[in-house]
Amino acid sequence: MPETASHDLQTVGLAEPGQPTPCTLVIIGGGGDLALRKLLPAIYNIAFEKLWPESSAVVGFGRRDISDDAYRALARESIEAHSRRPFQASTWGDRERSLFFVTGELEDPAAFQRLKGRLQDIEASHGTPGNRIFYLAIPPTLIDTCITQLKAAGLIRPPEDGHPFSRVIVEKPIGRDLESARKVNATLSEVLDERQIFRIDHYLGKETVQNIMVLRFGNAIFEPLWNQKYIDHVQITVAEEEGVGTRAGYYDQAGALRDIVQNHMLQLLSLTAMEPPWAMTADVVRDNKLEVLNCLRPVTDCERCVVRAQYASGNHNSIDVPGYRREENVQPDSTTETYVAIKTFVDNWRWTGVPFYLRTGKRLPKRASEIAVQFKEVPPILFNIDPERPLEPNVLALRIQPEEGYSLSVATKLPGAKVQIQRVKMDFHYSTTFAGESPEAYERLLLDVLARDGTLFMRRDEVEASWTWITNILEDWERSGTRWLPEYAAGSWGPVEADRLIEADNRKWRTL
Ligand code: BG6
Repeated sequence: MPETASHDLQTVGLAEPGQPTPCTLVIIGGGGDLALRKLLPAIYNIAFEKLWPESSAVVGFGRRDISDDAYRALARESIEAHSRRPFQASTWGDRERSLFFVTGELEDPAAFQRLKGRLQDIEASHGTPGNRIFYLAIPPTLIDTCITQLKAAGLIRPPEDGHPFSRVIVEKPIGRDLESARKVNATLSEVLDERQIFRIDHYLGKETVQNIMVLRFGNAIFEPLWNQKYIDHVQITVAEEEGVGTRAGYYDQAGALRDIVQNHMLQLLSLTAMEPPWAMTADVVRDNKLEVLNCLRPVTDCERCVVRAQYASGNHNSIDVPGYRREENVQPDSTTETYVAIKTFVDNWRWTGVPFYLRTGKRLPKRASEIAVQFKEVPPILFNIDPERPLEPNVLALRIQPEEGYSLSVATKLPGAKVQIQRVKMDFHYSTTFAGESPEAYERLLLDVLARDGTLFMRRDEVEASWTWITNILEDWERSGTRWLPEYAAGSWGPVEADRLIEADNRKWRTL
C-alpha cells in the first residue's frame, strides 16, 4: 500500500500531462541503439498509459534498408527486450500500424526529400495537422549535417502562430568542447527558436533527480542548513559496473569527462547547489542552475584537483574481464580516461569553502549513483569529546539509482545503561513506499517535449557554461600530455590517486 493518501497529493507544474496535440515523431537514427533500447520502449510505455496522442505516428529514418514491416518487427523485439512493462500485443496493435521507416543517408539531400514526401502521406492518412518532432539520435558530429539537411528540405521552420509546430530533440553530448558546442548551438539557432530546441540529458528525467528540488524546497528542515555554515562537503558519484561494451567507437573519442561529467554530473551538482527558483518554470529553474555553473571555480591546477585513469584487466563478479585497451574497437595505445575524480568549489555566498567531490567511472564494482551531503561535525563537547573517536557526522544521501530513495544518518543512543552512540539511518525507498515502478527518464522527457515544457532540458547557455568549465580541464590535459594514465583494476573502486585526492583533505570516499 502506498503511504501517500490521494488527498495528500500536490500537483505542481507538469506532473500530470494532459492529452497533447497529435504529431509525428521522426527518429533520425531510428534503427540505432538509442532508438531500439530506449526510445521505442518509452513510446510503448507512454502508449500503455494512454498518454501518447491518438493518430500520432512514429517514423524511423536511417541507413538500414528495411521495410515498415521489418521495422515494426524490430521495434516489437526491442520492446519485448527492454520495456519496463511486459509487452502486450493489445496495447501495441494500433500504435504498431503507425510506425514507419524511411531508408536514407544523412549526407543525401534526396533522402530528406523522400522523408518529406513520406511524412506528408502519413500526415494525410492519419489526419494529423503536420506537427513534427525530430529526435536526433545520432552521434554529436552529425548534428550539423542533419540540421542543415532538415532545413534545406523545408522540414523544420521557425515558430509561427497558427502553423504546425516543429521541434528538435538533441542528444548529449552537444559538441566535444566549448568551440564545437557553440558551433552546434549556432547551427540550431539559425533555424530554430530556443523554445523549439530540447537538449536531452536523460538524468534530468530520472524520478530521483526530479525529487532533488522537491526534497530541498518542499521541506522546511533542509534549506536552513543547506550552506557553508552547516555542510562540510558534498560527494557526487556516478559509478557504472559495465565496461565500454559496444560503444567504443564513440567512447574512445569522448572519455568519462565529456561523457558523464560535462552533462549528468554538472546537472546533479547544479540542482544540489542552486538557489530556490521563484517559480517552477523552465527559464527560472534554468537561470538558477546556470548561476551555479557560472560560479564553479575554474580548474587551474589539474595536478591537485583532477584525477583521470583507465581500467586495467580485472576480475568482476568472478569473471575475468579485459582492460580498456583490449576492448573491441579501442586503440591499443588509447589514453582515453574511463574514470575521473574532481575536487571543485562553487564560489558564491552559500557555498564558499565547501568542496564538491565528483567521481565517475566504468567497470567499478557496482552501478550506483548518488549525491551525499555531509554535514559538519557537532562541537567537541558532550558526546564528541574524544578526539580519537569523533562522532560521525550526519549524511544525507540521495540515491539516484539503484534502490532509488534517500537516507539520513543520525546519532542515536544504543539501548542500555551506558551512553553509547551509534549512527542509524532513516531510510526512504521508492520501491517500498510507492506502489509500481517509476517511469523511465525517456518517457517523462518525451511527454515534456509534446507539452513544450523545457524545464528538464538543457538551455544553450547552460551547455556552454558547463563546456567552459570542462574545456579548461581538457586544455590542461592537452598541455600536460597523455603518455600515461594511472590504472585501476576492473571491478575496483578506482585508482589510488583518487583516494589520495580526497584523503589529502582528511576525508574519505563513501563506501557504496
Ligand atoms: C550515457 C552515457 O549518457 O549515460 C553512457 O553516454 C552511460 O556511457 C549512461 O553508460 C549511464 O546512464 P544510466 O541511466 O544507466 O546511469
